[in-house]
Amino acid sequence: MRMSGFLLSLSLLLSICPVPARSASLPGEAAFLANCSQCHPSGGNTIAPAKNLRVVTLQANGIRTVQDIVQTMRRPGPGMPPFDSKALTERQAREIAEYILATFK
Ligand code: HEC
Repeated sequence: MRMSGFLLSLSLLLSICPVPARSASLPGEAAFLANCSQCHPSGGNTIAPAKNLRVVTLQANGIRTVQDIVQTMRRPGPGMPPFDSKALTERQAREIAEYILATFK
């Protein structure tokens, strides 16, 4: 009886404070999968492997902030199509950038 009371309050507690799913909850994930992951699967780079999206690589290439990543989407290097504000709004672009910085370590 005591044990089931404990389990009941435990399950109540868990239902009140659900543990957020890892990066799956970031709003930029869907847009990243739709627009970027064909060339950048799991943060890699199928065309130019040295220009992958891992934070260490980005930093080595001078890309440090959300704004730096958004700028790369607007005016990318060779082999990557530009994404203008019609393709991705400023907010979508920032959400993708936040997803990249939080996900590919
Ligand atoms: C058609 C393939 C392709 C698609 C789609 C694509 N990229 Fe790229 N991306 C590349 C290539 C190729 C490079 C390397 C360009 C260069 O040499 O500067 C690159 C480079 C980058 C870099 C710089 C990486 C570094 O380490 O310097 C970032 C950031 C980036 N892409 C983000 C994105 C995002 C965000 C999207 C989706 C909105 C996207 N890319 C879509 C091909 C692609």
